[in-house]
Amino acid sequence: MNPRFDDSSFTVAIVGCGGFIGSHLLDAVLERTRWRVFGVDLDFYRLQHRLNHERCEFLCADLADPAVVERIAQFPLVVNLAAICTPSRYMGEACEVIRSNYDHPAALATACAKSGSWLVHFSTSEIYGKTAVESGELLEDSTPAVFGPVTASRWSYATAKLLAERFIAGLPGLRWTVVRPFNFVGPYMDFMPGVDGEGIPRVLANFSTALLRGEPLKLVNGGKAKRCFTSVHDAVDFLFALFDAGLGGSLGSGNETVPGAGVFSQAFNVGNPGNEVSVAELAQKMRAIFAKLRGVDVSSLPEPQSVSGEEYYGAGYDDSMRRMPSVAKAERLLGFRARIPLDTALEESLSWFVKHYDVAQTP
Ligand SMILES: NC(=O)c1ccc[n+]([C@@H]2O[C@H](COP(=O)([O-])OP(=O)(O)OC[C@H]3O[C@@H](n4cnc5c(N)ncnc54)[C@H](O)[C@@H]3O)[C@@H](O)[C@H]2O)c1
Repeated sequence: MNPRFDDSSFTVAIVGCGGFIGSHLLDAVLERTRWRVFGVDLDFYRLQHRLNHERCEFLCADLADPAVVERIAQFPLVVNLAAICTPSRYMGEACEVIRSNYDHPAALATACAKSGSWLVHFSTSEIYGKTAVESGELLEDSTPAVFGPVTASRWSYATAKLLAERFIAGLPGLRWTVVRPFNFVGPYMDFMPGVDGEGIPRVLANFSTALLRGEPLKLVNGGKAKRCFTSVHDAVDFLFALFDAGLGGSLGSGNETVPGAGVFSQAFNVGNPGNEVSVAELAQKMRAIFAKLRGVDVSSLPEPQSVSGEEYYGAGYDDSMRRMPSVAKAERLLGFRARIPLDTALEESLSWFVKHYDVAQTP
């Protein structure tokens, strides 16, 4: 184990700590290290069990506030997960989405460049743009990005994230690493509409909600788009491999010859290429898992229904047909490869959702 994980005077700032990935990262930091955590979010409803933890300080605040940004940048390692990142908001709230995914991260990066913090910034696999079904592996440093028209405001999120990446990479003096997640899934993901959130959550929570409510799973444009669903536990393991490499030496000392320096100024795809599935296939897998959990025949569950993207998400919808990550860079620089198979990740996610919301969804 890296001796830095044993350093009880070290504090990691986790911004967006109350969200899906943030709550898993927080648990893992508390379990695998002796670090302290400075957690920032707009709310912490997922973290009730951690609120009084002796090694945590939580700040309920908005990253839009410059004083909050300055405070976060005082810590030597900053993981920025905060973002508006639900597709249904990309159309109706484009300006807010752009502020959240460009303005706030740019301000935080500027403060980290001044203070010398290592910024681990969460971008997205969407920065590869409108890839086609026949697109091959997406390579971090050479795949071109092509987006839909400006009128398709679905791309507000991806283009803001891309610009944030460009800003971070161009900022003199910043020590940075960018993470591009490929459809992470697991417990605590998103919300159940009408129970603890409004609008349309991402596909896993969306399908889980429909299954619990006995409604048909909606396949946007036939569910032909393919994705590599990746367990959030693999994502957390990736982050620990990254911390291990990046903290191999004197973080914050200004010494650029530290072991593991190869992880700075790099963007990494984090995904599981072995877990590729179309959204239509995902729907069938989730129906089968739900039927098993409930002890019923799958034929008793409603069949999925196809809907158009515009009908479902509203005007300005567009999509990318395939996102297959190249994971060679993470393997080469960090010795990391995602391991958890699709069925295991889906079973864990859906079982958690059913257990968590079964009573809550009953009117
Ligand atoms: N989960 C995935 O598969 C996935 C895929 C691609 C990219 N990402 C990126 O990873 C990051 C985390 O994703 P997640 O799935 O955990 O999302 P999430 O929505 O569950 O968590 C984001 C958290 O950020 C907080 N937040 C938003 N705006 C804030 C602000 N102004 N100030 C303070 N806190 C704020 C939210 O309250 C939320 O708790 C995001 O940047 C997202 O774009 C995730």
